[in-house]
Amino acid sequence: MGRLNGKKDVRILLVGDPGVGKTSLIFSLVSEEFSEEVPPKAEEITIPPDVTPEKVTTQIVDFSAQEQSDENLFQEIRKSNVICIVYAVDDDDSIEKISSYWLPLIRDQLGEDHTIPIVLVGNKVDLVEYSSLELILPIMNQFSEIETCVECSAKTLKNISELFYYAQKAVLHPTSPLYSSDDRD
Ligand code: GTP
Ligand code: MG
Repeated sequence: MGRLNGKKDVRILLVGDPGVGKTSLIFSLVSEEFSEEVPPKAEEITIPPDVTPEKVTTQIVDFSAQEQSDENLFQEIRKSNVICIVYAVDDDDSIEKISSYWLPLIRDQLGEDHTIPIVLVGNKVDLVEYSSLELILPIMNQFSEIETCVECSAKTLKNISELFYYAQKAVLHPTSPLYSSDDRD
């Protein structure tokens, strides 16, 4: 695992409410086209270093509550180098759950001060005319482990390769401040 400076590999975990499009995002990345029919959970995929922007072996891991237990989820959280919390921009409930469920659950597993970066991923932008960022920015201000956010669409392929690039970059070149605002006097 390459958390600090050994550029070994990056393990990216996708979590988020059912139906937000986690599996579709992975299929769109791999096949460069949208699949209407996807299984609940994508097989774990390994992308060789020569085809990734940062030249590191990258594993992409799906999670589906339909097929996996909470214990499976906890294990995957503890194995990951970066976690993408996926929401659907047209589903306010999936946005609300970022701060009420997913971020607290990840802190429970990794500790309050964990340094595993989080990327917020707003999928299904093809369905709406507005941006979800107004709802997302307060969450980013509240949880310093969030590295960045990106809006994308598995259907139109908008920002799909960018999202996986941001996740790699969050591990290899984190931009978090050395001191969180809580540490300052
Ligand atoms: P679970 O495995 O149950 O947790 O769901 P998931 O997050 O993997 O969602 P999945 O990829 O199965 O997608 C759920 C539904 O949303 C499917 O009908 C997809 O076709 C649809 N979907 C996924 N991505 C997009 C998108 O970008 N735009 C639109 N319009 N629909 C999408
Ligand atoms: Mg799925």
